[in-house]
Amino acid sequence: MAIYTLPELPYDYAALEPVINPQIIELHHDKHHAAYVKGANDTLEQLDEARDKGAWGAINGLHKSLAFHLSGHVLHSIYWHNMTGDNGGGEPLAADGAGDLADAITESFGSFAGFKAQLTKAAATTQGSGWGVLAYEPLSGRLIVEQVYDHQGNVGQGSVPILVFDAWEHAFYLQYKNQKVDFIEAMWRVVNWQDVARRYAAAKERDDVLLLAP
Ligand SMILES: [Fe+2]
Repeated sequence: MAIYTLPELPYDYAALEPVINPQIIELHHDKHHAAYVKGANDTLEQLDEARDKGAWGAINGLHKSLAFHLSGHVLHSIYWHNMTGDNGGGEPLAADGAGDLADAITESFGSFAGFKAQLTKAAATTQGSGWGVLAYEPLSGRLIVEQVYDHQGNVGQGSVPILVFDAWEHAFYLQYKNQKVDFIEAMWRVVNWQDVARRYAAAKERDDVLLLAP
């Protein structure tokens, strides 16, 4: 039972120019994201087979593969919607329905500028491949920044990603070469705050998802 499918991009390949060129978006979505979807489905099939045969010799590798590909699929599915070429960037504003998000960022990080500096640094200083992520942490009800290794490492259980910056070389190298910091700084110009605010509101509604004592 194959479960995961590649979502359509919410815009055309050139929609995020000049911050991200069309060639990057096309390859990133049609090849890289597609590979994570296929990898997650293939791994689930291999686990089905392992159960059927009682053949568990590859179990460690299969679980590593499942976490990698599934997390890659989840993060990229959020990533495309976190960006817009239509009045993106700036800060979350109450006038755009993002007032609660703006307040949560200030409460959690002291100021928008402090948050922006932390997420920029977290994304730009990933070692190897990774992501900078703004996540809702349901146990405390606050927002946190995570520096994710690959797609799945260095993550607190239960946190919900609401704004993700892909810092893998495939996200920028064709345009920015080795200047990862320049790419991350440019990313702020296409952030879709209305989408981030929608994700924040949805995550907050599931506050008790962990069923742990506060
Ligand atoms: Fe990516």
